[in-house]
Amino acid sequence: MQKILDEAVDYARNFLHQGQPASYIPELAKVNSQLLGAAIVTTEGKTYYSGNYKQHFTIQSISKPIALILALKDRSEQYVFSRVGMEPTGDAFNSIIKLETSESSKPLNPLINAGAIAIDSFIKGETVEDKFNRLLNFFRLLADNNQITYDVNVYKSEDSTGFKNRALANFIKDAGILNGDVEEVLELYFKQCSIKVSCKDIATIASVLASNGLNPFSKKRVCEKHYTRLVKTFMVTCGMYDASGEFAVKVGLPAKSGVAGGIMATVPEKMGIGVYSPNLDEKGNSVAGMKVLEYLSNRLDLSIF
Ligand code: DON
Repeated sequence: MQKILDEAVDYARNFLHQGQPASYIPELAKVNSQLLGAAIVTTEGKTYYSGNYKQHFTIQSISKPIALILALKDRSEQYVFSRVGMEPTGDAFNSIIKLETSESSKPLNPLINAGAIAIDSFIKGETVEDKFNRLLNFFRLLADNNQITYDVNVYKSEDSTGFKNRALANFIKDAGILNGDVEEVLELYFKQCSIKVSCKDIATIASVLASNGLNPFSKKRVCEKHYTRLVKTFMVTCGMYDASGEFAVKVGLPAKSGVAGGIMATVPEKMGIGVYSPNLDEKGNSVAGMKVLEYLSNRLDLSIF
């Protein structure tokens, strides 16, 4: 496995010159764009690493399926899905268009920004701080890593430039979908996106999803099986946004990308994979990261289809 992971990273290095780091969040543009790292965590807890796997980066949208699980635990499936839909959009992750053209103004799914912001408003807690601590502790539990924290500079950068997210949040507040105060929900959302992780952290979370809720290291049940099934399904249909179809054909794994350059992919019953490389394609997915996954999927015959 180690040899194959190293081969996958070597192959993906050929694509490091393609794409660009996200620049709409100024702090993200400061990164060394040539970094490339990968980690595999099997459901038995074996680990394999390659490239710049020690690098930490902000989790960004990879956090969305995890926040969804917490909202489902806090409310119920009926509550959550009466307010947020289950369909892919075919639009960009921060698009506003379907909110206005759909009859109910309901965000189409929990992995686009509008849906994820609504989901954060369902998370329980007395204050924003309480809510964020509950979320952070849930990440720590899934990743089996109590050191996980958030990047204050990225948070501030997102907060001061998040005009589009503010528009989305205000739109769904007006439609009666967002609970509570818009600014407080956005604080939670921006802090959630700024949580700092490594390839191993996201591979461990993906391994929990792969084993239907068991942490590979602590062997504890950290999530209900039903919820892992639910989020894996969303990851297949919406996880790579408007590239989800092509990704399903080429890689065939439930996966979620983030604009810092991470991708979390899960191989049911077998392993979690975490990859990181900051240069993104025009749809916001890591170019070299997708190449690592494509190589591994072909070489190890991992596609679920
Ligand atoms: O809402 C944003 O703009 C970011 N904090 C998260 C977006 C993101 O990661 C989209 N994923 N590819």
